[in-house]
Amino acid sequence: MGKVNISSLEPGMKIGRTIYGARGEMLIRKGVELTPGHIRKLAQLEVSFVFIDDESAPGTVIPKIVVKDVIADQTRLAAVQQVKNILLETKESGRLVTDELLSSSSLMVNLVELRSQDDYTFAHSVNVCVLALMTGITLELDKKELGVLGVGALLHDLGKVKIPDKILNKPDTLTKEEFKIMKKHTVYGYDLIRAAKGLEDVHARIAYQHHECYNGSGYPLGIKEKEFDEYAQIVAISDKFDALTANRVYRNAFPPHEAYEMCAASGNFWFKDHIVEAFLHNIAAYPSGVFIELNDCRIAAVIDTPKGHSMFPRVRVLFNQNRRLLPAPQEIPLSEQSELYITRTISTKEIQSLLESYS
Ligand SMILES: [Fe+2]
Repeated sequence: MGKVNISSLEPGMKIGRTIYGARGEMLIRKGVELTPGHIRKLAQLEVSFVFIDDESAPGTVIPKIVVKDVIADQTRLAAVQQVKNILLETKESGRLVTDELLSSSSLMVNLVELRSQDDYTFAHSVNVCVLALMTGITLELDKKELGVLGVGALLHDLGKVKIPDKILNKPDTLTKEEFKIMKKHTVYGYDLIRAAKGLEDVHARIAYQHHECYNGSGYPLGIKEKEFDEYAQIVAISDKFDALTANRVYRNAFPPHEAYEMCAASGNFWFKDHIVEAFLHNIAAYPSGVFIELNDCRIAAVIDTPKGHSMFPRVRVLFNQNRRLLPAPQEIPLSEQSELYITRTISTKEIQSLLESYS
């Protein structure tokens, strides 16, 4: 299965993974052959990419890479719907995500897959929840603690329900005054959670502190070090990472490896060192299916990433140093080859033009 940008979609390509809309509704089911109408609809909905069944892609020479997700589509859908309910009705939930994550804790998080086609608060909250729970698992929290953390992560942006829509969904950079109002979602969330039945103080603290920084440069209070709750730090780094890898009105998404490096440099600055370390332990800096160049100039596709070796995935070498397609691709675990490392990512367009030079 390959990730294909919306601009490269062609009629006849087969959908490799069911596409859901911003509110969890199904848009196109897995296995459906794309029509020009589908492609128009996806463009209108501003879907940035979809997963396409490799065999349906024209001129496929690149061997198939199986992309795994950390949670099943149904779980994600259920979680998005649950967050929607939570945000609209301020109800407690989130158990589904916790259980499934616990049973698949050996999988790495591929951010490109995790990222939904939209940046709505519902889907963002589920992403943050998945990332926070993976971090919690690495920090060896028990099931009960993970439940608390998961609910806190799902609710972290709850206060946004009180931010006026024209600010929340403004298709432009916020003014100073608007940003001041936006920042209040932390305090609103705290108040809402404190007033709700069945939730704990830590849930309120997470909502209150999730934009704070370890060095005191965050908001709303500018607290630092020990005052910054550990659960809130886990949610804050998950929120930060997910935000960095999302398209924003004022900038394009950072590629995962750049977001990874920014977070790696944030120890004892944005967040406490061991939280950063535990968080990054689960992040594949180079998502499966991405093309990369090695320091010896060979070109490869990322297959998967062994846990704890975020920057050193297993790759399949496709082109040699002279840009010649290899008759038999060679698999290399970079975590076991100390002399080899990734120098850059390569766009699908570049690969396509390389392949075209053979035809
Ligand atoms: Fe927030």
